[in-house]
Amino acid sequence: MTQPDIVPPAALLSDTSLGEGLRIGLFDSGLGGLSVLRDLRQHMPRAQLLYIADSGNAPYGERDDAFIAGRALAISEFLLSQGAQVIVVACNTATAMAVHTLRQRWPELPIVGVEPGVKPAVALSANKRIGVLATPGTLASDKFKRLIEMHGHDALIVPQPCPGLAKEIESGHLDSPALRALVETFSQPLREARVDTVVLGCTHYPFIAPLFQQALGPHVRIIDTAEAVARQTQRVSRDLVRDQNTNAEPSTQLWTSGSAAHLAQVAERWLNLKTQVSVFP
Ligand code: DGL
Repeated sequence: MTQPDIVPPAALLSDTSLGEGLRIGLFDSGLGGLSVLRDLRQHMPRAQLLYIADSGNAPYGERDDAFIAGRALAISEFLLSQGAQVIVVACNTATAMAVHTLRQRWPELPIVGVEPGVKPAVALSANKRIGVLATPGTLASDKFKRLIEMHGHDALIVPQPCPGLAKEIESGHLDSPALRALVETFSQPLREARVDTVVLGCTHYPFIAPLFQQALGPHVRIIDTAEAVARQTQRVSRDLVRDQNTNAEPSTQLWTSGSAAHLAQVAERWLNLKTQVSVFP
């Protein structure tokens, strides 16, 4: 009689799609990339995630390309020195202004960027009228123009710059009168344009999606790209060499160029993530 194959229990199988043995670095101008971190933690629960919030320099949305490229290079350099094997630019603005610089500097490195979800919005919209909420920097970029040329031709795209919104979200208070007033200001033109689908084109905005839903009306569909970014990170990680050190526990480490206490508090409140935060220069 032949012995049956011994199949290890699923929990013991190594699975790079869940991130086992992988180190993934991500960054944003501040707290916004935590919305991407949240989805990465769900999709790749066995990965080690290294997150840098550049809150000391936020917001990026009103800064120039050269400044953002300089920060993106310095931050990525640090993440690589910490063993990151993939870089996720968890910021639409930094992706628009600096992802090409990072790809030039590290041509072999898997780098995942974030861009407004115009393509899924066009596919989902019934009346083909779509609003895009993003920073002035993202909406003015060549990358955004190319995105619209490529995916927006069958629809009316209404770009809505939101100056000051990311800065307000950085305060950590998601229901302040100031925040509600800004949401109302930026929602009004989209209501007038009768859009039925709205893209959150800044990683800070998913944390106030309920405020936008209220201001835009229940019939408007809101699109966030964090899950798509997590799936893309899974895809690009598939062929990476895993760290064989089985003692390497899955974990999330946080750094900030702003207040460590503030990031620690916000991570606990928004992601239920309790961890120490270090300071990044
Ligand atoms: N969270 C960023 C984005 O996705 C930028 C916000 C800012 O710093 O202006 O665009």
